[in-house]
Amino acid sequence: MNAPLPLEISQLALNLTLKDRIDQKIFDALYSRSLVYNTCWEDPAVDRQALDLGPDDSVLVITSAGCNALDYALQGPRKIYTVDANPRQTALLELKIAGIKKLPFDDFFALFGSGFHPDIRNIYFEKLRTELSAFAQRYWDRRISWFCSDHGSFYFHGLAGFVARGFRSYFRLRPQLARPISALFAAENLESQREIYDNHVAGELWTPVINWVLNRQLTMSLLGVPHPQRRLVQKQHPDGVAGFIREAIEYVFRHLPVRDNYFWRVYLTGSYTRECCPAYLKKAGFDALKAGLVDCIEPHTCTVTEFLEAGHEPITRFVLLDHMDWMSCYYPAALIEEWNAILERAAPSARLLLRSAHAHPPFLDWLRVGPKRQRLEDVLHFDDELAARLQQEDRVHTYAGFIIAHLKSSAND
Ligand SMILES: C[S@@+](CC[C@H](N)C(=O)[O-])C[C@H]1O[C@@H](n2cnc3c(N)ncnc32)[C@H](O)[C@@H]1O
Repeated sequence: MNAPLPLEISQLALNLTLKDRIDQKIFDALYSRSLVYNTCWEDPAVDRQALDLGPDDSVLVITSAGCNALDYALQGPRKIYTVDANPRQTALLELKIAGIKKLPFDDFFALFGSGFHPDIRNIYFEKLRTELSAFAQRYWDRRISWFCSDHGSFYFHGLAGFVARGFRSYFRLRPQLARPISALFAAENLESQREIYDNHVAGELWTPVINWVLNRQLTMSLLGVPHPQRRLVQKQHPDGVAGFIREAIEYVFRHLPVRDNYFWRVYLTGSYTRECCPAYLKKAGFDALKAGLVDCIEPHTCTVTEFLEAGHEPITRFVLLDHMDWMSCYYPAALIEEWNAILERAAPSARLLLRSAHAHPPFLDWLRVGPKRQRLEDVLHFDDELAARLQQEDRVHTYAGFIIAHLKSSAND
């Protein structure tokens, strides 16, 4: 029997306005029919340092677009279970795994590096389709044309891709902004990057139109950010979501070298380059995965709780992305259930990573877990120092919260 919810949490659901309920309906309608993430929007280079994966590790990671699961596989862990409630996310990872196993590098890079391959139909039906699950076959049978589309690359498709396509159209209307943005990605060093951003991009980019678009719930829903998560951002920034995103972009382009920032490159240009791309798209990474490292990945379409309750093997690493922000407002009881399942399957040395739109997600304080209804801080050690240091290196930089936790040795008592 689930423990009673703290009053302020059960109150949350009651305080939803009519607009909130409409926004939620729109989000659910979009989410339940669409591929939301066509690329992972979380930095695996930071995760790798926090996870410190070894050959005995068994990892549970939320799939999203699968890029990060492929990145972790390059570290050679024993097993990677990718789990996502959205079967379209799993179908994307399946297509990537099939491509790694069946295609030469140049064809694979055309697909997922450039996001465009003129001969994709033949390649798909001749080499890839038989590798896929029944759902993935049905899904890609109707959407494989995203890889040879007049609307541009694969990265301009799916919900997040639709937003990227919208910004591309906007930049086309404003060459005085598009030119310096291209120059930004060609900048030799941080100094010239800052000069381009400060003197040629910032003034042109942060207009009332852009601020208005970024502050719309529909824009956020298309980016996979439901309104409770948007609320979390709004609460933390005087200028709302637009202000938060402005600060994130300023940090990324003024403090981090843009030359290896493939996250912002793919959405602002529609493709990766062979120098600036995820590790699975680098020739060495692709060859290592093809040589066998990709075989440790096991995709699942279900919820995290369903996956964990269906097995017994201890999990040593959990990568939970920011999905708990989704659950904490709408499904707080399910969130408690999920934490209980996580702690039930966590190996003694287990490590957990999660991100949030909130610097300190409120659910970390109100959650009570296990038969003793313990606080999370009673069973987990939070490595805030490491998280804060790694957060500075994060090339995505759109999550206020980055949480690294280890299971306390007493947790299993
Ligand atoms: C908030 S998104 C994370 C996306 C991530 N920030 C990214 O950009 O790559 C959450 C992902 O988790 C999935 N998801 C949400 N709740 C889930 C649950 N309870 N179990 C499994 N997957 C879930 C969604 O389908 C989505 O792909």
